[in-house]
Amino acid sequence: MSDMQAILIRGGRVIDPYRQIDSHDEDVWVVEGRVAKAPPTGADVMEVDARGLWVLPRLIDMHVHFRDPGQTWKETIETGSRAAAHGGIGAVATMPNTVPVTDTPELVEWVKNRGEAVGLVRIFPIGAVTVGSQGEELADLFRLKQAGARAFSDDGLPVASSRMMRAALTYSRDLERVIINHAEDRSLTDGASVHEGLAAHRLGLPAAPETAEAMMVWRDVLLAGLTGGWLHLAHVSARESLEALSYARQHQYRVTAEAAPHHLLLNDEALLRWQYDSVTKVNPPLRPESSRQALLKALKQGLVNVVASDHAPHHLDEKALPYVQAPFGISGLETILSALITALIEPGLMTALDAWALMTTGPDQVLGLHSQGLAEGEPADLTLINPTRKWQVDPAAFYSLGHNTPLAGMKLTGQAVATMVGGRWTMREGEVAYAGLSEIS
Ligand code: NCD
Repeated sequence: MSDMQAILIRGGRVIDPYRQIDSHDEDVWVVEGRVAKAPPTGADVMEVDARGLWVLPRLIDMHVHFRDPGQTWKETIETGSRAAAHGGIGAVATMPNTVPVTDTPELVEWVKNRGEAVGLVRIFPIGAVTVGSQGEELADLFRLKQAGARAFSDDGLPVASSRMMRAALTYSRDLERVIINHAEDRSLTDGASVHEGLAAHRLGLPAAPETAEAMMVWRDVLLAGLTGGWLHLAHVSARESLEALSYARQHQYRVTAEAAPHHLLLNDEALLRWQYDSVTKVNPPLRPESSRQALLKALKQGLVNVVASDHAPHHLDEKALPYVQAPFGISGLETILSALITALIEPGLMTALDAWALMTTGPDQVLGLHSQGLAEGEPADLTLINPTRKWQVDPAAFYSLGHNTPLAGMKLTGQAVATMVGGRWTMREGEVAYAGLSEIS
């Protein structure tokens, strides 16, 4: 075949945590949607000059809310996919707090198929742990797995009953799928909007202590020990949660955890800056500086092995409600990559190779994807990053329908300049490819 197309990505710094490679000497060939060693003879070669850029294997954001089905004024699978491509993200795991809750095999398949039809990002659906995420009856985890669920979570809500969590963790072991818990003792957080600290006090906002998170993290860790189950803790933010993770590691429990970028970049003093603007309202809430420092340290130590956005888009009208009534959530897909560079790599806290593991091998392991990064023969999923470009966050430029972020106006370092999925460019220089297969539903 003489008119075969090949893409050569030349001269970049290839950072591949799967193969532990950080090299200026590796060029990447893409042939028929896969990474190749060399082009077939006579191929039509398109060269991409990647000098000065970082070349990374598929970046995974394993915690996003696409609101589809049911709340498509907040986000759809299509708009969320566009936001992912724009943010340099090649794969996402979608939380099941849709309407209805993604708790049946049919819904899991629907989310997966819709994601494939849009075709801009790989979508790994997460199924609910309990029916309707009501915490009363275990969902049919086996059939959810068969339908393609990569993990289980009632995110947005904790699995409150210890007995239910014990059962779920027991299944996780046999099903080889992780249980992701949103750890929060709701009897302590009920009615709270923010972290219980000085900023909350000054503004007179209802608040809850971070102990509410840590208590359930400890419970979950102990249950992981009891069951031998597979636990992943969503968006850990409390200092004492990290101590539980350290305990889990000492005892070699199968426990992993993620941090959200807003908890890395901001503390609760952001509330004083934004006053009663609900862009700072997120669950778990922005924490004090001491917790932020502890979280950064836990990332460096490998106690927290994933960074995920908790992309939680809401409509402007909803976020414009009075602070206490506004929904929790930050739209994070289009800033996560830069937040990771700004919080971890730029200040020299972690090497680029270790930091990018948090969005590649880390989530890959939690979701059981078994990818090999940019090894020959793998699907050509990659992201090109300009690591030194400084830019100011402007939510009006987001592809997401949610423009709610307290990072608005902040200067971040590093930006994705191209995203490729399966050998196709889904974004180049900020322009997202048209999702040709999708219809507006
Ligand atoms: C999440 C959402 O909006 O779905 N919001 C958030 O602030 N993280 C759910 C949740 O975890 O509360």
